[in-house]
Amino acid sequence: MSGIVVEHLGKSFVLRDGKRFVALDDVSLTAADGEFCCLVGPSGCGKSTVLNIIASLVTPDSGSIRFSSGAGKTRIGYVFQKSRLLPWKSVRDNLALALAGAGVRRDEFASRIQHYLAMMGLERFAGEYPAALSGGMQQRVAIARAIAIEPDILLMDEPFGALDEFTARAARRHLLRIWEETHKTILFVTHNAFEAAYMADRVMLFTAHPGRLVRTVTVDVPRSERAIDEPRLLAVQKEILATLGLE
Ligand SMILES: Nc1ncnc2c1ncn2[C@@H]1O[C@H](COP(=O)(O)OP(=O)(O)OP(=O)(O)O)[C@@H](O)[C@H]1O
Ligand SMILES: [Mg+2]
Repeated sequence: MSGIVVEHLGKSFVLRDGKRFVALDDVSLTAADGEFCCLVGPSGCGKSTVLNIIASLVTPDSGSIRFSSGAGKTRIGYVFQKSRLLPWKSVRDNLALALAGAGVRRDEFASRIQHYLAMMGLERFAGEYPAALSGGMQQRVAIARAIAIEPDILLMDEPFGALDEFTARAARRHLLRIWEETHKTILFVTHNAFEAAYMADRVMLFTAHPGRLVRTVTVDVPRSERAIDEPRLLAVQKEILATLGLE
């Protein structure tokens, strides 16, 4: 388990026409150990870039990341904006590849794969190739792959963004159950203000051009009272939309 402290991140990209584009301007945020944090903001405000920097896939120009479990010891699971499964490998082998990459002992593979596929309701599909699964099922495989390495921190980039509302609702409840069982630290990116209010302990609001964290909203509603028509959640949703200038 690990908390995250992000301080003063800056990141610019140089576009092909030579112009500099400020993707992140002085972004600082924290996530406590076991906290569920949502990142919300318009397209291009740097949400994926924040996750990529935390996962060491992108190097920031300035600023720092610290993990409370200590540098080099923190295991990070990442569910990307697209499922990114290897189409030529079975579901089982997609998970096996991640386990190998995380240094898990080979004699543990079968039980881990079985356990985490079952957790996502996919145990029957272990031998299938991704093309034989629906989009929602592929996304669940990607989640199983990310949690099978038993990460301290789970980064999730719009994991349910491409799902229909029925599947997304089931997936949200499923993820919350897993989080309540494992209490991993989660950074969850979404465009959906209600999804953020429903899922998060805290919601971090970003604006674009340049990408900045403008406000953090604490969702002060106990988990047991988070029904989809709960007025306090609808009020948080309204606050998110108003802050982002969408209402
Ligand atoms: N590798 C790159 N090269 C050039 N520009 C980039 C690169 N990666 C990101 N950017 C730019 O940085 C900005 C932030 O990108 P990022 O993907 O973090 O946004 P986002 O908030 O995740 O958007 P979305 O909601 O559409 O996924 C964008 O304007 C994008 O064009
Ligand atoms: Mg993104």
